[in-house]
Amino acid sequence: MIERIGQIRAEAEAAICAAGTTAGLEELRVRYLGRKAELPNLLRGVAELDPQERGAVGRAANETRQALETLITDRGAQLELGELRERLAGDRVDVTLPATPPAPVGRLHLLTATRREIEDVFCGLGFTVVEGPEVEFVHYNFDALNHDPAHPARARTDTFYVEAPADPHGGEVLLRTHTSPMQIRAMEQQPPPIAIIVPGRVYRRDSDATHTPQFHQIEGLAVGEDVTLADLKGTLLAFAKAIFGDEREIRLRPHFFPFTEPSVEADVSCFMCADADAHAPRCPLCKGTGWLEILGSGMVDPNVLGAVREHGYDPERHQGFAFGLGVERIAMLKHAVPDLRLFYDNDLRFLRQFG
Ligand code: PHE
Repeated sequence: MIERIGQIRAEAEAAICAAGTTAGLEELRVRYLGRKAELPNLLRGVAELDPQERGAVGRAANETRQALETLITDRGAQLELGELRERLAGDRVDVTLPATPPAPVGRLHLLTATRREIEDVFCGLGFTVVEGPEVEFVHYNFDALNHDPAHPARARTDTFYVEAPADPHGGEVLLRTHTSPMQIRAMEQQPPPIAIIVPGRVYRRDSDATHTPQFHQIEGLAVGEDVTLADLKGTLLAFAKAIFGDEREIRLRPHFFPFTEPSVEADVSCFMCADADAHAPRCPLCKGTGWLEILGSGMVDPNVLGAVREHGYDPERHQGFAFGLGVERIAMLKHAVPDLRLFYDNDLRFLRQFG
């Protein structure tokens, strides 16, 4: 019996020392010390042995079990350390490797892209970009812009008025209905000559497929001593070509705005049926007219210059042009967007088509 214990010990010690992995070592622990293993069985049977044999066999088996347990623990610690080192070496980050491609970060909203494109065109023509408040005094939105006191846009059914601290000009406060108030504010801040564009949000009490209560405009203003209607037409033509293509023409139609005289609406020749003769009658974009309305404009009314007379603008000496365009309208025409509300639904299937 003692001899058998010695054999088991020698065999187990050799196997434990040779174990290459912690998993392999665990198998050996089960094989030599587990519930069904020979040595523990032997120990359990000690009680039935001869009293003379009992002491020696029990001691030998116990010693062997303890020795094997210690050996397994020590070998286990060694193997674990080795395996940890291997894992660390394998996981080491090589910071010189190219980074994993970043997740797509999205794109500009079509309105932002269109605004920037338009800004680029006018900056190239010498205009600078300025911005103004969306909550505005009636003075800047209507009065200084030569609106008749009975002008319909002043009505509460058309325009959002807000409760706000008293206006130093003695009037009410509203959400600006157009970017034109910045004509006055900019001229108050900068003597002539001036050439600015004003991108920004505007608000009107309107809501259907072609109107949202909030939309975007870009105002333009150029005033000097010899700025003429021809300059307006040349500027708008350059704009139309840059946005809608080099082949485009523009035409001006008489119109009315309180703050320009004369006032004109500008149309750009339809780019969808450029070979007009053949396709114009059926063109879905221009409805067969060959022309698309793009903006309102005109020569700055002397009364508007009079409102900023004390800031260096003399209606007798200075003259210039102004225009106002809808960013949504330009984007809809250029990209054939059928419904204005698509811009604000934030449906990714729509937004992903652009940019
Ligand atoms: N403010 C006008 C509008 O919103 C557009 C415009 C601007 C017309 C400048 C003439 C000159 O309809």
